[in-house]
Amino acid sequence: MNELKILIEAEQYVRSILENDSSGHDWWHIHRVRSLARQIAAHEGADIFICELTALLHDVADDKLFENEEERLAELDDWLYKNDVEKDIREQIVAIIKTMSYKGGNNTPVESLEGKIVQDADRLDAIGAIGIARTFAYSGAKGQLMYDPSIAVREEMSKEEYRKGQSTAINHFYEKLLKLKSLMNTEYGKQLAEERHQYLEGFLNKFLEEWNA
Ligand code: ADP
Ligand code: NI
Repeated sequence: MNELKILIEAEQYVRSILENDSSGHDWWHIHRVRSLARQIAAHEGADIFICELTALLHDVADDKLFENEEERLAELDDWLYKNDVEKDIREQIVAIIKTMSYKGGNNTPVESLEGKIVQDADRLDAIGAIGIARTFAYSGAKGQLMYDPSIAVREEMSKEEYRKGQSTAINHFYEKLLKLKSLMNTEYGKQLAEERHQYLEGFLNKFLEEWNA
C-alpha cells in the first residue's frame, strides 16, 4: 500500500466531487480539516495516515450534500478498494465516515481514536473566524437571512428542519456552533476549541450589540 500515492489520488477524487460546492464544504474546507487532523493526530499519538485519508474523504457521502448516503458510502468503499487501501483500514474509514456527521447531535458516537480526531478537526473548522464565515456563506447559499429576531432560536431542531436549513445564520450559532466546544473528543482538540469558541461568543455579542444599537 503506497500511502503517499493514495493520499494524492484521494485529493483528486474529492476535488472532483466537491469542486463546485458553495455550501461550506468546498475543497478548502477539506484541506483545512486534513491539516487540523494531522496536527491533532500527532499530539494524540494516532495513526496519521488514517486520519489524513479519512479527513480528505469525510464529506463525500454527507446526506446534506447528496441524496443517497448509502449509495455514496458504497461508492467510497469501492474507491478505497480500487485504490489498494488495505481491507482493515478501508473498513475503519467507512465506519468513521458513516458515523461522524453532526445530524443535529443525534448520530451514534464515533468509536475509534482516528474517528474522534477527524470529527474534532471537522468541528474546529465550524467554529472560530472560519466557522463564522462558513455559516454566513452557507446561509446565503440556502437563501436564509443572516438574522431575524422574529424567528425563535430552537436549541433542538428536527433532522428535517436541519436539512432544509429553516433558520438564520445567527440562530445556527445557538443551534449548533456554541455546543461544539463541549462535544470535542480529544484533549488537544479541546484546547484548540477554547480560543475559537471565545471568538464566536465575542462576535455574537458585538453583532447583537450593533443590531440593537
Ligand atoms: P457536518 O459537516 O458536521 O455534518 P454541516 O454539514 O451541517 O456539518 O455543516 C457544515 C457547516 O455549514 C457548518 O459548520 C455551518 O457553518 C454551515 N451550516 C450548516 N447548517 C447550517 C444552517 N442551518 N445555517 C447556517 N449555517 C449552516
Ligand atoms: Ni466537513
